[in-house]
Amino acid sequence: MKKEILNILKSNDDFISGQMLSDRFGITRAAIWKYITQLKKEGYEIESISRKGYRLISSPDLITSEEITPLLETQVFGKNIVHYDSIHSTNSQAKLLCDQGLVEGSVILSEEQTSGRGRLGRNWSSPKGSSISMSVVLKPDINPIHVAKVTQISAAALSLAFEEIDVECNIKWPNDIIVNNKKVCGILTEMSSELNKINYVVMGIGINVNINQTEFPDELKPIATSLKIEYNKQFSRKQIIASFLKHFEKLYFEFINTGSAESSFEICRKRSLLLGKKIFVIKGSEKTPAIAESIDANGELIVKYEDGTLSNLISGEVSVRKSME
Ligand code: BTN
Repeated sequence: MKKEILNILKSNDDFISGQMLSDRFGITRAAIWKYITQLKKEGYEIESISRKGYRLISSPDLITSEEITPLLETQVFGKNIVHYDSIHSTNSQAKLLCDQGLVEGSVILSEEQTSGRGRLGRNWSSPKGSSISMSVVLKPDINPIHVAKVTQISAAALSLAFEEIDVECNIKWPNDIIVNNKKVCGILTEMSSELNKINYVVMGIGINVNINQTEFPDELKPIATSLKIEYNKQFSRKQIIASFLKHFEKLYFEFINTGSAESSFEICRKRSLLLGKKIFVIKGSEKTPAIAESIDANGELIVKYEDGTLSNLISGEVSVRKSME
Protein backbone atom coordinates (compact mmCIF):
# COMPACT_ATOMS: atom_id res chain seq x y z
CA MET A 1 0.00 0.00 0.00
CA LYS A 2 2.83 2.37 0.92
CA LYS A 3 4.38 1.59 -2.48
CA GLU A 4 1.13 2.43 -4.31
CA ILE A 5 0.70 5.72 -2.44
CA LEU A 6 4.29 6.66 -3.28
CA ASN A 7 3.74 5.83 -6.95
CA ILE A 8 0.70 8.15 -7.09
CA LEU A 9 2.66 10.95 -5.42
CA LYS A 10 5.53 10.39 -7.85
CA SER A 11 3.34 10.60 -10.92
CA ASN A 12 1.69 13.88 -9.84
CA ASP A 13 3.45 17.22 -9.61
CA ASP A 14 0.49 18.77 -7.81
CA PHE A 15 -1.16 18.05 -4.44
CA ILE A 16 -3.17 14.84 -4.05
CA SER A 17 -5.91 15.06 -1.46
CA GLY A 18 -6.02 12.67 1.48
CA GLN A 19 -9.68 12.01 0.60
CA MET A 20 -8.80 11.01 -2.96
CA LEU A 21 -6.14 8.60 -1.67
CA SER A 22 -8.46 7.14 0.95
CA ASP A 23 -11.26 6.62 -1.65
CA ARG A 24 -8.80 5.08 -4.10
CA PHE A 25 -7.39 2.54 -1.64
CA GLY A 26 -10.49 2.04 0.52
CA ILE A 27 -8.71 2.95 3.75
CA THR A 28 -9.21 5.82 6.22
CA ARG A 29 -7.46 9.17 5.90
CA ALA A 30 -5.74 8.37 9.20
CA ALA A 31 -4.29 5.24 7.60
CA ILE A 32 -3.08 7.30 4.63
CA TRP A 33 -1.44 9.73 7.04
CA LYS A 34 0.30 6.79 8.75
CA TYR A 35 1.83 5.66 5.42
CA ILE A 36 2.87 9.25 4.63
CA THR A 37 4.61 9.42 8.03
CA GLN A 38 6.48 6.17 7.23
CA LEU A 39 7.57 7.53 3.86
CA LYS A 40 8.83 10.72 5.52
CA LYS A 41 10.84 8.57 7.96
CA GLU A 42 12.45 6.83 4.97
CA GLY A 43 13.64 10.21 3.71
CA TYR A 44 10.86 11.25 1.31
CA GLU A 45 10.19 14.96 1.60
CA ILE A 46 6.40 15.33 1.45
CA GLU A 47 4.57 18.61 1.86
CA SER A 48 1.18 18.32 3.55
CA ILE A 49 -1.30 21.20 3.59
CA SER A 50 -4.76 20.90 5.06
CA ARG A 51 -7.57 20.91 2.45
CA LYS A 52 -4.96 20.47 -0.31
CA GLY A 53 -3.39 17.14 0.60
CA TYR A 54 0.09 15.77 -0.04
CA ARG A 55 2.81 16.63 -2.55
CA LEU A 56 6.13 14.85 -3.06
CA ILE A 57 9.02 17.32 -3.04
CA SER A 58 12.02 15.04 -3.16
CA SER A 59 13.00 11.39 -2.90
CA PRO A 60 15.98 9.98 -1.00
CA ASP A 61 18.75 8.09 -2.80
CA LEU A 62 17.38 4.71 -1.78
CA ILE A 63 17.98 1.68 -3.97
CA THR A 64 14.46 0.28 -3.61
CA SER A 65 12.41 -1.03 -6.51
CA GLU A 66 10.19 2.10 -6.24
CA GLU A 67 13.23 4.28 -6.92
CA ILE A 68 14.96 2.15 -9.53
CA THR A 69 12.03 0.86 -11.62
CA PRO A 70 11.18 4.27 -13.17
CA LEU A 71 14.79 4.53 -14.41
CA LEU A 72 15.02 1.05 -15.94
CA GLU A 73 15.56 0.65 -19.68
CA THR A 74 15.66 -3.16 -19.65
CA GLN A 75 13.42 -6.04 -20.68
CA VAL A 76 14.53 -8.64 -18.12
CA PHE A 77 17.17 -7.36 -15.71
CA GLY A 78 15.80 -5.57 -12.64
CA LYS A 79 12.16 -6.45 -13.38
CA ASN A 80 12.21 -8.32 -10.07
CA ILE A 81 14.05 -6.35 -7.38
CA VAL A 82 14.41 -7.66 -3.83
CA HIS A 83 15.56 -4.87 -1.51
CA TYR A 84 16.83 -5.03 2.07
CA ASP A 85 17.62 -2.28 4.51
CA SER A 86 20.37 -4.51 5.89
CA ILE A 87 21.49 -8.04 5.03
CA HIS A 88 24.47 -10.30 5.78
CA SER A 89 25.49 -10.59 2.11
CA THR A 90 23.38 -10.04 -1.01
CA ASN A 91 25.24 -12.92 -2.72
CA SER A 92 24.47 -15.35 0.11
CA GLN A 93 20.86 -14.15 0.19
CA ALA A 94 20.54 -14.44 -3.59
CA LYS A 95 21.75 -18.05 -3.40
CA LEU A 96 19.11 -18.84 -0.75
CA LEU A 97 16.40 -17.23 -2.89
CA CYS A 98 17.65 -19.03 -6.03
CA ASP A 99 17.14 -22.32 -4.23
CA GLN A 100 13.51 -21.18 -3.88
CA GLY A 101 13.23 -20.48 -7.63
CA LEU A 102 14.24 -16.86 -8.23
CA VAL A 103 14.02 -16.00 -11.96
CA GLU A 104 16.85 -14.83 -14.26
CA GLY A 105 17.32 -11.08 -14.15
CA SER A 106 16.32 -10.77 -10.49
CA VAL A 107 18.40 -8.24 -8.61
CA ILE A 108 19.06 -8.37 -4.87
CA LEU A 109 20.00 -5.02 -3.34
CA SER A 110 20.79 -3.90 0.16
CA GLU A 111 21.46 -0.51 1.75
CA GLU A 112 24.24 -2.23 3.73
CA GLN A 113 25.84 -5.64 4.25
CA THR A 114 26.91 -6.90 7.65
CA SER A 115 29.06 -9.78 6.31
CA GLY A 116 29.83 -8.78 2.73
CA ARG A 117 32.16 -11.22 1.00
CA GLY A 118 34.99 -10.50 -1.42
CA ARG A 119 37.03 -12.91 -3.52
CA LEU A 120 39.43 -15.38 -1.96
CA GLY A 121 37.53 -15.41 1.33
CA ARG A 122 38.14 -11.70 1.99
CA ASN A 123 35.64 -9.37 3.66
CA TRP A 124 33.89 -6.65 1.72
CA SER A 125 32.79 -3.53 3.53
CA SER A 126 29.46 -1.96 2.47
CA PRO A 127 28.54 1.06 4.61
CA LYS A 128 24.85 1.96 4.88
CA GLY A 129 23.40 4.22 2.22
CA SER A 130 26.73 5.13 0.62
CA SER A 131 27.65 1.92 -1.21
CA ILE A 132 25.98 -0.38 -3.70
CA SER A 133 25.66 -4.05 -2.76
CA MET A 134 23.99 -5.80 -5.64
CA SER A 135 23.62 -9.42 -6.74
CA VAL A 136 22.24 -10.28 -10.15
CA VAL A 137 20.75 -13.71 -10.86
CA LEU A 138 21.64 -15.41 -14.14
CA LYS A 139 20.51 -18.75 -15.52
CA PRO A 140 22.59 -19.13 -18.68
CA ASP A 141 22.19 -22.28 -20.72
CA ILE A 142 25.95 -22.58 -21.29
CA ASN A 143 28.70 -24.94 -20.26
CA PRO A 144 29.95 -24.02 -16.74
CA ILE A 145 33.48 -23.59 -18.15
CA HIS A 146 32.33 -20.36 -19.82
CA VAL A 147 31.04 -18.69 -16.65
CA ALA A 148 34.21 -16.64 -16.07
CA LYS A 149 33.20 -14.65 -19.18
CA VAL A 150 30.22 -13.27 -17.29
CA THR A 151 32.58 -11.43 -14.92
CA GLN A 152 34.24 -9.77 -17.92
CA ILE A 153 30.84 -8.83 -19.36
CA SER A 154 29.92 -7.31 -16.02
CA ALA A 155 33.20 -5.35 -15.80
CA ALA A 156 32.59 -4.00 -19.33
CA ALA A 157 29.01 -2.97 -18.42
CA LEU A 158 30.24 -1.25 -15.25
CA SER A 159 32.78 0.74 -17.24
CA LEU A 160 30.03 1.87 -19.65
CA ALA A 161 27.81 2.88 -16.72
CA PHE A 162 30.70 4.88 -15.25
CA GLU A 163 31.31 6.52 -18.62
CA GLU A 164 27.71 7.78 -18.55
CA ILE A 165 28.38 9.68 -15.32
CA ASP A 166 31.76 10.94 -16.60
CA VAL A 167 33.82 8.69 -14.37
CA GLU A 168 37.13 7.62 -15.96
CA CYS A 169 37.87 4.05 -14.95
CA ASN A 170 40.15 1.14 -15.74
CA ILE A 171 39.41 -2.55 -15.54
CA LYS A 172 41.90 -4.66 -13.65
CA TRP A 173 41.35 -8.13 -15.08
CA PRO A 174 39.38 -10.05 -14.08
CA ASN A 175 37.10 -8.33 -11.62
CA ASP A 176 38.17 -4.95 -10.29
CA ILE A 177 37.19 -1.48 -11.43
CA ILE A 178 39.85 1.08 -10.72
CA VAL A 179 39.66 4.87 -10.55
CA ASN A 180 42.90 6.85 -10.22
CA ASN A 181 44.78 3.64 -9.42
CA LYS A 182 42.53 2.66 -6.51
CA LYS A 183 39.71 0.12 -6.38
CA VAL A 184 36.12 1.42 -6.39
CA CYS A 185 34.32 -1.74 -7.33
CA GLY A 186 34.71 -5.52 -7.17
CA ILE A 187 32.81 -8.41 -8.71
CA LEU A 188 32.28 -11.78 -7.06
CA THR A 189 30.73 -14.35 -9.41
CA GLU A 190 29.44 -17.53 -7.78
CA MET A 191 27.73 -20.49 -9.36
CA SER A 192 25.71 -23.59 -8.55
CA SER A 193 26.13 -26.19 -11.25
CA GLU A 194 26.31 -29.82 -12.23
CA LEU A 195 29.08 -31.12 -14.48
CA ASN A 196 27.57 -29.76 -17.70
CA LYS A 197 24.66 -27.68 -16.54
CA ILE A 198 24.40 -24.44 -14.62
CA ASN A 199 21.63 -24.19 -12.03
CA TYR A 200 22.28 -20.48 -11.46
CA VAL A 201 24.98 -17.85 -11.35
CA VAL A 202 24.97 -15.08 -8.76
CA MET A 203 27.00 -12.11 -9.89
CA GLY A 204 27.75 -9.90 -6.90
CA ILE A 205 28.88 -6.33 -7.37
CA GLY A 206 30.08 -3.98 -4.67
CA ILE A 207 30.58 -0.31 -5.56
CA ASN A 208 32.05 2.36 -3.28
CA VAL A 209 29.85 5.27 -4.32
CA ASN A 210 29.51 7.99 -1.67
CA ILE A 211 31.81 6.57 1.01
CA ASN A 212 33.98 9.12 2.84
CA GLN A 213 37.72 8.57 3.30
CA THR A 214 37.28 8.20 7.08
CA GLU A 215 34.87 5.29 6.60
CA PHE A 216 37.54 3.05 5.04
CA PRO A 217 39.51 0.88 7.46
CA ASP A 218 43.16 2.06 7.69
CA GLU A 219 44.54 -0.97 5.83
CA LEU A 220 42.28 -0.24 2.83
CA LYS A 221 42.98 3.49 2.58
CA PRO A 222 46.02 3.12 0.29
CA ILE A 223 44.25 0.78 -2.15
CA ALA A 224 40.51 1.57 -2.03
CA THR A 225 38.54 4.67 -2.87
CA SER A 226 35.02 5.84 -3.68
CA LEU A 227 33.54 7.87 -6.52
CA LYS A 228 32.78 10.66 -4.04
CA ILE A 229 36.39 10.83 -2.82
CA GLU A 230 37.78 10.94 -6.36
CA TYR A 231 35.27 13.40 -7.81
CA ASN A 232 34.41 15.41 -4.71
CA LYS A 233 30.66 15.10 -5.23
CA GLN A 234 27.73 12.78 -4.49
CA PHE A 235 26.60 10.28 -7.12
CA SER A 236 23.12 8.81 -7.52
CA ARG A 237 23.27 5.11 -6.65
CA LYS A 238 19.99 4.32 -8.37
CA GLN A 239 21.18 5.92 -11.60
CA ILE A 240 24.36 3.81 -11.56
CA ILE A 241 22.35 0.62 -10.98
CA ALA A 242 19.84 1.36 -13.76
CA SER A 243 22.60 2.26 -16.18
CA PHE A 244 24.66 -0.84 -15.31
CA LEU A 245 21.62 -3.12 -15.81
CA LYS A 246 20.93 -1.56 -19.23
CA HIS A 247 24.49 -2.13 -20.46
CA PHE A 248 24.79 -5.54 -18.83
CA GLU A 249 21.54 -6.80 -20.38
CA LYS A 250 22.68 -5.82 -23.87
CA LEU A 251 26.16 -7.37 -23.57
CA TYR A 252 24.97 -10.48 -21.73
CA PHE A 253 22.24 -11.35 -24.26
CA GLU A 254 24.67 -10.69 -27.10
CA PHE A 255 26.91 -13.35 -25.53
CA ILE A 256 24.02 -15.77 -24.91
CA ASN A 257 22.59 -15.32 -28.42
CA THR A 258 25.84 -15.41 -30.41
CA GLY A 259 28.12 -17.41 -28.11
CA SER A 260 30.69 -14.60 -28.35
CA ALA A 261 31.50 -12.00 -25.69
CA GLU A 262 33.94 -10.25 -28.01
CA SER A 263 32.40 -6.76 -27.65
CA SER A 264 32.76 -7.02 -23.87
CA PHE A 265 36.35 -8.28 -24.16
CA GLU A 266 37.14 -5.40 -26.50
CA ILE A 267 35.92 -2.93 -23.85
CA CYS A 268 38.00 -4.78 -21.22
CA ARG A 269 41.09 -4.55 -23.45
CA LYS A 270 40.53 -0.85 -24.16
CA ARG A 271 40.17 -0.06 -20.46
CA SER A 272 42.68 -2.59 -19.17
CA LEU A 273 44.98 -1.53 -16.37
CA LEU A 274 47.28 -4.49 -16.97
CA LEU A 275 47.97 -4.91 -20.68
CA GLY A 276 51.59 -4.22 -21.56
CA LYS A 277 52.54 -3.89 -17.90
CA LYS A 278 54.96 -5.80 -15.68
CA ILE A 279 52.84 -7.81 -13.26
CA PHE A 280 53.05 -10.55 -10.66
CA VAL A 281 50.94 -13.68 -11.10
CA ILE A 282 49.95 -14.63 -7.55
CA LYS A 283 49.24 -18.25 -6.61
CA GLY A 284 48.96 -18.74 -2.85
CA SER A 285 52.13 -17.26 -1.37
CA GLU A 286 53.98 -17.47 -4.70
CA LYS A 287 54.45 -14.31 -6.80
CA THR A 288 55.84 -14.90 -10.29
CA PRO A 289 56.95 -11.92 -12.40
CA ALA A 290 55.42 -11.72 -15.87
CA ILE A 291 54.18 -9.31 -18.53
CA ALA A 292 50.44 -9.00 -19.24
CA GLU A 293 50.37 -9.59 -23.00
CA SER A 294 46.73 -9.68 -24.04
CA ILE A 295 43.16 -10.72 -23.33
CA ASP A 296 42.31 -13.50 -25.77
CA ALA A 297 39.09 -14.48 -27.55
CA ASN A 298 37.98 -16.41 -24.44
CA GLY A 299 38.52 -13.46 -22.09
CA GLU A 300 41.59 -15.15 -20.63
CA LEU A 301 44.67 -13.13 -19.69
CA ILE A 302 47.75 -14.16 -21.66
CA VAL A 303 50.90 -13.60 -19.63
CA LYS A 304 54.54 -14.02 -20.63
CA TYR A 305 56.90 -15.24 -17.90
CA GLU A 306 60.52 -14.13 -17.71
CA ASP A 307 61.72 -17.36 -19.38
CA GLY A 308 59.58 -16.46 -22.40
CA THR A 309 56.82 -19.03 -21.83
CA LEU A 310 53.25 -17.94 -22.38
CA SER A 311 50.36 -18.95 -20.18
CA ASN A 312 46.66 -18.12 -20.14
CA LEU A 313 44.94 -17.35 -16.87
CA ILE A 314 41.21 -18.05 -16.61
CA SER A 315 40.76 -16.19 -13.35
CA GLY A 316 42.95 -15.52 -10.37
CA GLU A 317 45.03 -12.83 -8.91
CA VAL A 318 47.57 -10.55 -10.47
CA SER A 319 49.16 -7.35 -9.25
CA VAL A 320 50.93 -4.57 -11.09
CA ARG A 321 54.68 -4.44 -10.26
CA LYS A 322 56.03 -1.16 -8.94
CA SER A 323 59.15 -0.03 -10.82
CA MET A 324 61.56 -1.12 -8.04
CA GLU A 325 59.98 -4.57 -7.50
C1 BTN B 1 36.13 -8.51 -4.64
O1 BTN B 1 36.64 -7.56 -5.23
O2 BTN B 1 36.79 -9.23 -3.89
C2 BTN B 1 34.68 -8.81 -4.88
C3 BTN B 1 33.78 -7.98 -4.01
C4 BTN B 1 32.33 -8.28 -4.22
C5 BTN B 1 31.42 -7.60 -3.23
C6 BTN B 1 29.99 -7.77 -3.58
S1 BTN B 1 28.95 -6.68 -2.66
C7 BTN B 1 27.54 -7.52 -3.23
C8 BTN B 1 27.86 -8.99 -3.23
N1 BTN B 1 27.61 -9.58 -1.93
C9 BTN B 1 28.72 -9.99 -1.32
O3 BTN B 1 28.79 -10.52 -0.19
N2 BTN B 1 29.78 -9.75 -2.11
C10 BTN B 1 29.38 -9.14 -3.37
